[in-house]
Amino acid sequence: MSAQDHYRIDLARFLDIHYDQISLYWKGRVGLFAVLKAMGVGPGDEVILPAFTCVVVPNAILYTGATPVYADINPSSLCCDVQSIEKAITPKTKVLLIQNMLGLSYKVHELVALAKAHGIYTIEDCTHGFGGKYQGQFNGLISDAAFFSSQWNKPFSTGIGGMLVVNNPALKEPLQKINATLLPPGFKDRTVLSALIWARTYLLKGYTYWTLLRCYRWLSKKGWVIGSSSTEELSGTTMPEGYFKNMSQVQCRIGKIALKSLTDAMIIRKTNALKVHEWLVKHDKTCVPESHIEDHAFLKYPLLVQDRGAFLEKAEKARLPLGDWFVSPLHPVKSSLIPWGLNIDEYPHACYISEHIVNLPLEGDLSRLINFLELYQNEIL
Ligand SMILES: Cc1ncc(COP(=O)(O)O)c(C=O)c1O
Repeated sequence: MSAQDHYRIDLARFLDIHYDQISLYWKGRVGLFAVLKAMGVGPGDEVILPAFTCVVVPNAILYTGATPVYADINPSSLCCDVQSIEKAITPKTKVLLIQNMLGLSYKVHELVALAKAHGIYTIEDCTHGFGGKYQGQFNGLISDAAFFSSQWNKPFSTGIGGMLVVNNPALKEPLQKINATLLPPGFKDRTVLSALIWARTYLLKGYTYWTLLRCYRWLSKKGWVIGSSSTEELSGTTMPEGYFKNMSQVQCRIGKIALKSLTDAMIIRKTNALKVHEWLVKHDKTCVPESHIEDHAFLKYPLLVQDRGAFLEKAEKARLPLGDWFVSPLHPVKSSLIPWGLNIDEYPHACYISEHIVNLPLEGDLSRLINFLELYQNEIL
């Protein structure tokens, strides 16, 4: 059996599904592209997605020749309401993408029911939510398919990496045909990724976070290391060469190991999320809706602040690893979003949130973070 098969079996056991429902990819976005193709999505089709996501999501849609159609988010759930999706449906809609934001699913059953009533496929973007649950069921098992990411900062990491779960049996055969055309990762990809995984394991500490993050972003912008996204993906809508790539053995091996500590890590994140939540409620600040608290595994806790730049600078000085997801309706693109068909004037909630959001880390001891929130509470909305 190959490293891929071993890893798929472990993932399937974790989710309590059959391993042939799982496909592995170099990145999560590649899984999205594969399943869109398996659904027969192409020119003339429309795919609905939230106007608060990562630019690689509309890219995967555009690479098929289809048109992304955006829906504004609910500013409190950071996901889309049924009403905003309903407005976006047209006779050309072929797929609805349902996003699990920072690990928080929202209205999934209602959205799947709406899509079914219109004969539309559903795909869950569970890139932030592997292992979390929604109404008692693992994230990603309700829609026709779901894709996950195991990139840095995700529920568990294989450096970069992604997987797809297919729940609709009719998609199995077309997906197999598409997966047969995946490219193997090259020697350079594998070597650079192994070096990055080593650096992350041995060099990344709380006090080195900001320096290493800057260094990583600079190197990946230059194209010298594998970044989360290539310059081509951030500046245009043409599929980069070598995009449709398989998961490497290195990633499978790391994933197998990382998966073992996921349940414990999720318990810590959940406990910490509750601590942050209590602090926000006590100080009368914006917080995640109570209905989200019960079942979910938090990846990060979203926080709204008056001036994001200034707040993150203070966090850097305090050596706290706060995150900046998402700095734009199509993160991380701050220039015009027109090439991706998004006119920001039409999505006021997504624009407001992307100006004010930061995310809080939920690993380890939170006492320094809570002290920091106390100190700068006037800047929190
Ligand atoms: C909401 C969302 N969707 C999709 C992706 C793409 O995942 P990957 O980097 O594994 O392709 C990301 C990446 O962080 C994301 O945040």
